[in-house]
Amino acid sequence: MTPFLFDPAAFAGKVAFVSGAASGIGAATARRLADLGASLILADRDRPRLDKFAATLGKAEVLALETDVTAFSSVAETIARGVDHFGGLDLAVNSAGIDLPRCQTGDYPAEQWDRVIAVNLTGVFHALRHQIPAMLAQGGGAIVNVASIMGFRAFAGQPAYTAAKHGVIGLTKAAALDHATQGVRVNAVAPGFVETPLLSHLSDEKKKAAAALHPMDRLGQPDEVTSVILFLLSDAASFVTGACYEADGGYLAK
Ligand SMILES: NC(=O)c1ccc[n+]([C@@H]2O[C@H](COP(=O)([O-])OP(=O)(O)OC[C@H]3O[C@@H](n4cnc5c(N)ncnc54)[C@H](O)[C@@H]3O)[C@@H](O)[C@H]2O)c1
Repeated sequence: MTPFLFDPAAFAGKVAFVSGAASGIGAATARRLADLGASLILADRDRPRLDKFAATLGKAEVLALETDVTAFSSVAETIARGVDHFGGLDLAVNSAGIDLPRCQTGDYPAEQWDRVIAVNLTGVFHALRHQIPAMLAQGGGAIVNVASIMGFRAFAGQPAYTAAKHGVIGLTKAAALDHATQGVRVNAVAPGFVETPLLSHLSDEKKKAAAALHPMDRLGQPDEVTSVILFLLSDAASFVTGACYEADGGYLAK
């Protein structure tokens, strides 16, 4: 029977991949999954930070691998090593992302465009491309891609980030349709502004202004996004696929 609410005990013994695991929403999600007894394949480009974070996870089963999601072969290797080490892949959270300085579209540097699309959109494709076959090989699994309110609304000065996040939502839907009858669910979460190192370039004044964009008049905390991610990963969401759930303090309700 489908659980009425998600059952935290059901995560014990599952194998979960998390990208962008060294920081912010990825780290918060990895920590929660570790607390619930999942085995973790942690991927991040920042090796020292990833190792430091992995060392805080206590007795959890962890394989932390330096990975660049922009490189097809790097993602392939990490997932292959993880599957080999733990014997399969049940769950995946694709959270690696960057935010580069704002610039109007008419002046936007082409290299900056390529970089943002490579990490925030192509990186998610690379992950799905290797996660889905691994899940199909064992009969199914669940994936959550971290999109953004900018997957639904544009921000001035953010053409690449806006396009990438709109793309992540489209890619999530396409992948969900492709594998809907094969036991693999693919969903996304759309956070509003969340207090993570991604926002560290903002002054206190700018953070306050960002908070004020949300009807709740505050920034989100990483754990508040993680809760939605865990629901989407869980069997309580067994009939949910191709969806994007907001965790945005009401931002998109405006
Ligand atoms: N913080 C926010 O306000 C906010 C809002 C909406 C969506 N998001 C999205 O949430 C996700 C996580 O962001 P966060 O706020 O936790 O940021 P963060 O900067 O705290 O963490 C992002 C992690 O991704 C890693 N990363 C960057 N490029 C990578 C690459 N090429 N390969 C592998 N790892 C890479 C970084 O090293 C970092 O550890 C991102 O996709 C971001 O776009 C964040």
